[in-house]
Amino acid sequence: MNFAERYQQYYKAFETELIRFCADMNFTPAVLTESMRYSLLSGGKRVRPVLFLAAADCLGVPYEAELNFALALECIHTYSLIHDDLPAMDNDDYRRGRESNHKKFGEANAILAGDALLSYAFQLLLVESGKSDRHLRAALALSRAAGAEGMVAGQSADLLSEGKEAERDTLSFIYEHKTGKLVQAPLVMAAMLAGKNEAQMREYGKNLGILFQITDDILDVKGENSAMGKTLGKDEKAEKLTCVRLYGAKRSEQLADECAANCLAALDRMENADFLREFVYFVRNRNH
Ligand code: IPE
Ligand code: IPE
Ligand code: MG
Ligand code: MG
Ligand code: MG
Repeated sequence: MNFAERYQQYYKAFETELIRFCADMNFTPAVLTESMRYSLLSGGKRVRPVLFLAAADCLGVPYEAELNFALALECIHTYSLIHDDLPAMDNDDYRRGRESNHKKFGEANAILAGDALLSYAFQLLLVESGKSDRHLRAALALSRAAGAEGMVAGQSADLLSEGKEAERDTLSFIYEHKTGKLVQAPLVMAAMLAGKNEAQMREYGKNLGILFQITDDILDVKGENSAMGKTLGKDEKAEKLTCVRLYGAKRSEQLADECAANCLAALDRMENADFLREFVYFVRNRNH
């Protein structure tokens, strides 16, 4: 199987589970269910669930039994996008090729859809954490990656840095937290379930997360609206602290290459890791 076929294999396993999960959702008031479903089923790349299932597979963990973790990852990621788009944060009207959640359902419903997705993720994690000590560790790792030590801290720093003088350390903090933690988490969780390769996955995931946000920032400047499915050029308008602002477009491309090299170095000699190696090129060369 080539890279695209394997991505499709993990993607399909996840998507089937997600569709089943969304079909079973039946919360009252109905608008809550609708707004949660709207954002979950709006066709993201599913990078975090795919990374989790792939890393589990690579480390010999039967991934079909761990789909709840993949769901929890996507619920947390989707909630972070809904809130990221709110007027009080990035004020974005488009996401995943259609209206963002608050444009469609109103701000209050968007906030609540995010709250519900986050809470549901923790419900899933609690169920998983009872299965074994390894599951408990993986659940804790995702809890930490999501909150005030993780993505939320990065989002807070991202907003604080708007319009301020550009600082390298702040940019690193933003990258490692707002995006890095939720890209690293699936890899570390898979290693915890497998009971091996944790340090390597931590290092690989840290660099892959940074690479993911460098390419997001580059694409905000030079991407195509139709491929990206979200408003572009918004970082400059909001005076966000990005690598393009701090280092310029050319140096940002070099930094992306350096980061990709660090990812590959972290996987050095790891057996059965070709998919994870090719994932680095997928992120480096992505157009959406
Ligand atoms: C977008 O994430 C937000 C960032 C962390 C850069 P993705 O690029 O993974 O978005 P979807 O899930 O594919 O829409
Ligand atoms: C968002 O970063 C990271 C999240 C935690 C959602 P951005 O604000 O750059 O993501 P986009 O460009 O809106 O997808
Ligand atoms: Mg943002
Ligand atoms: Mg944004
Ligand atoms: Mg962005």
